[in-house]
This record gives sequence, structure tokens and C-alpha cells, in this order.
Amino acid sequence: MTARTPVSSCLTALGLSLAMMALPVAAVAADLTVGFSQIGSESGWRAAETTVSKAEAEKRGITLKIADAQQKQENQIKAIRAFVAQGVDAIFLAPVVSTGWETVLAEAKEAEIPVVLLDRDIDPSGKDLYLTAVTSDSVHEGRVAGEWLVKTVGDKTCNVVELQGTVGASVATNRKKGFEEGIAGHANVTIVRSQTGEFTRAKGKEVMESFIKAEGGGKSICAVYAHNDDMMVGAIQAMKEAGLKPGSEILTVSIDAVPDIFKAMAAGEANATVELTPNMAGPAFDAVVAFKENGTVPPKWIQTESKLYTSADDPMKVYESKKDLGY
Ligand code: AHR
Repeated sequence: MTARTPVSSCLTALGLSLAMMALPVAAVAADLTVGFSQIGSESGWRAAETTVSKAEAEKRGITLKIADAQQKQENQIKAIRAFVAQGVDAIFLAPVVSTGWETVLAEAKEAEIPVVLLDRDIDPSGKDLYLTAVTSDSVHEGRVAGEWLVKTVGDKTCNVVELQGTVGASVATNRKKGFEEGIAGHANVTIVRSQTGEFTRAKGKEVMESFIKAEGGGKSICAVYAHNDDMMVGAIQAMKEAGLKPGSEILTVSIDAVPDIFKAMAAGEANATVELTPNMAGPAFDAVVAFKENGTVPPKWIQTESKLYTSADDPMKVYESKKDLGY
């Protein structure tokens, strides 16, 4: 680990110039130790993010310590405190929910350890407590999903059931908001049921079973919108078991672009997904290295791309390109 740089000064509005003056140590990536408080392994996407983070660290010779919080914020807070006690050079945090981080992030700031948010945001009140956030625009993801559905159904009446992500997670709040924006002004497309499936396959299946029951065996459902592909894979299973035909009778649109959703697309059982790159750590490492080396303060938000895939995109080819990436 290198001698720590005075991140607190860089996190103020004084910005780049003061930060550059105040940084005495030129660090190289190979000297760095980064602690990563990961949420857990609720989805294929999350597993891939962990795998890719390890690979990106290795590429740069950075020592990466990963703490798996098993979906609990209290475990993430403990992990951050442990990283601070160990004196790591930087902390990556994938915040399970958006609130409740002020105290522990203030402790990291006090210890002059820069924090980088990965894949999810925290409430704006915590903005001064981290260096940068590497995330997608999750409102945009939901909007893309909603707009795809509106375009696909045209004037047809379409009752949508929604599987939400973890309650309180920024991505769940934003993906819901974005989808609602995407279908706004199209009175024929309405969300008739919406419940959390906690970003997992098992819960996605269970909630979809209850939706099917509540909607007269599912015949009145026109489309399923899921905040991630894993819940959709569970929902597809539930639809098939109920004798329904996902992908034809019932449209599907979800987020992540994990290999299994492309398999489902190739089988005609899924229709669309919005890609979320699992490589959040690469840009985060680069930001930390530049910050440590010469005081470069990154933009507050490093935005990753969101791309829509549909069954027209040669799903088996995409599946093949993704299947060995740690999902
Ligand atoms: O924060 C990113 C989300 O978290 C992914 O879309 C989902 O699969 C997950 O686990």
C-alpha cells in the first residue's frame, strides 16, 4: 500500500488545482490495495461484476480485497470500517440501498481514503463523501425498456406486470421511474401489478406465480417488465409452468443482458433486454490510479453504456460471446 493522499481536500469544491498541489506521492497501480464491499451474489450480473473486478485488478497489478455482504447493509458498513482500519488505498462500494451511508463514508473521508461507488448510487446528500460513481443511467435503462414496449405493442391494450429490484436500491427506484416515463402518454400500456422480486431468479419466479394467479391464469397479462434478467428467467419458468407462452403470448423486457436471457431469446421465450456492463471496476481503477498518481479528480459520475438487445440481434451469437465471462 502507498502512503495515503489527502483525499478530503479533493472532495471539496476547491477541486483539481488544490488537489494537485496537495498530493505529494506518485503512486503506481501495482502499489495499490483496494477494498471492495460487494453486495453479494443475487444475480448472474453481480457474479460477473465480481469476476471482472478481479480480472481488472490483476491486469493492473492492484491488490483487490473483496468482502461479500450477503445483501446486508450492516455487513457493508462493517466491511468499510475494516478496510479503513487496514488502511487500504481506496474503497469500492456497491451500495445495496441508497440511504444510510453518511456516517461510515465520513469515517473513510476522515481517514483520507477515496471511495468509489460501483453500479448503484447513494442519496445526493452523500455526494461529498465519495470521489466518483461508476454507474449506468438507470432511469434511462427503464425508459429504453418502456419505449421498446410501447413501440412493439402499437395501439394494442397492454397490461404490464413489473418485477422490481431490491427495495431501496437506487437502480430499482430509477428503473421503475424510467419505465413509467417510457410508457407515459400511451394510455393503452399500463402497469397492473408491481412487486419486488429482489433481483433473484427464485423470487422472480415466486412473484410471477402470484401475478399469474391474480390475473386469471395470466391470460390478461400482455407483458412482463423485470428490473433484471435473473428475475425474468424465473418469471419465464413460472409462465411456462402455467401453460403460457413467454416471448410470444406474453412479451418480456428486462435489464442486464446476461447470457441466459439470450438463450431464452434464441428459444423464442424472451424478447428484449438492456445491457449493463459488468465492468464497473476497470474505469474505477483507472480513476483511482490517476487520482493517486497526479491528483486528477475524476468527474463525479463515470457513466457506462446501455444498449438495447432484441431477438433480432442474433441471440445465440451474443450468448456465445458472453457465456464465459463469469455470469
Ligand atoms: O446494481 C445493478 C443491479 O444489481 C443489476 O442489474 C442486478 O442484476 C443486480 O444484482
